[in-house]
Amino acid sequence: MKIAVFAGDGIGPEVTHEAVRVLKALHLPGLELIEGDVGAAAYRKHGHPLPQQTLDIARSAGAILFGAVGDFGCDDLERNLRPEQAILGLRKELALFANLRPATVFKGLEDLTTLRPEVAGKIDLLIVRELNGDVYFGEKAIRTLPDGRRQGYDIMSYAEDEVRRIAHVGFRAAMGRRKQLCSVDKANVLETSQLWRDVVLEVARDYPEVELSHMYVDNAAMQLVRNPGQFDVIVTGNLFGDILSDQASMCVGSIGLLASASLSEGTLGLYEPIHGSAPDIAGKGVANPMATILSAAMLLRHSFGLEAEAARIEAAVARALADGFRGGDLGGSDGTVAIGDAVLARL
Ligand code: NAD
Ligand code: IPM
Ligand code: MN
Repeated sequence: MKIAVFAGDGIGPEVTHEAVRVLKALHLPGLELIEGDVGAAAYRKHGHPLPQQTLDIARSAGAILFGAVGDFGCDDLERNLRPEQAILGLRKELALFANLRPATVFKGLEDLTTLRPEVAGKIDLLIVRELNGDVYFGEKAIRTLPDGRRQGYDIMSYAEDEVRRIAHVGFRAAMGRRKQLCSVDKANVLETSQLWRDVVLEVARDYPEVELSHMYVDNAAMQLVRNPGQFDVIVTGNLFGDILSDQASMCVGSIGLLASASLSEGTLGLYEPIHGSAPDIAGKGVANPMATILSAAMLLRHSFGLEAEAARIEAAVARALADGFRGGDLGGSDGTVAIGDAVLARL
């Protein structure tokens, strides 16, 4: 049971440390943790945000626990050396195309969100975000036009097989839940989205029990705060999924609560909070580690089939919240380690 631990930058090491403590406390037979450098930390040490040895560690592991990368001090580096390339590179190199970002409001904690409790209380949704394509990975550059003006461009594209495989993930996820799938696109404007919609409709024939709907992304952003309870599974592209999942986190309480799993066709998976390195609070010991702890739970469930252990972690987090532990992100004053301690005590 080999787990690669890539803590990264900013609050990454702080929150990862707490998740590792939780994993160790379960006394899992054969648990082996191997650390690797990613992000700005790796760039400073090895001259690259995703060094070869880190990739090798990832490939040798059964699962990856990832903290966060990002450092505003690196904003002037050429793009392929920036910290974010570590997570983008891992997703691409390891073909981790399916990103699951569940958002469920914790029972009794409906007052934690900035939505009205009766609205937030109904949230139990899963965002299935495509992770290997879209405008993220198309040709991109800043060029100078013949008339001397600078122009930035990023090509958005999806090939049909890329849409098909993520659509299958969405439909299968819906089959295991309330059998409702909402595909989010911008087919009224984008050809990429038109193909997305056509392919999702083709795949739908394999899942007659699933109630499929389509929604434009602007409306989806609005519906997520108007009536988030209407969503079961949302399947969407890389860029829209990135944005909607940050928004969904706030609907259930805070970005410090949302975990994610990035899966491939094989068994290898990467697990990380949806938040970033939070440079504004890094080093202060105030980051909420719950999203990372919950990511460790997803790791045990999806990569090792340890459902009972995953549920134990999730219950401990829920109990810590119910008992009043709150990070600054939730308007409280409990620090990173105090929250880790609270979860450990409730395991
Ligand atoms: P962010 O998610 O790092 O932070 C946004 C806001 O949320 C900040 O105010 C931060 O303090 C707060 N926040 C985030 N996580 C928190 C936690 N666990 N507890 C309490 N508060 C928390 O997003 P950003 O500020 O836009 O980006 C910062 C850096 O992180 C950038 O370099 C960005 O590229 C990177 N980033 C990396 C990842 C990743 O590694 N997967 C994800 C998102 C952003
Ligand atoms: C996320 C992040 C990443 C993304 C960045 C850091 C590349 O925002 O994991 O949500 O855009 O996918
Ligand atoms: Mn994001």
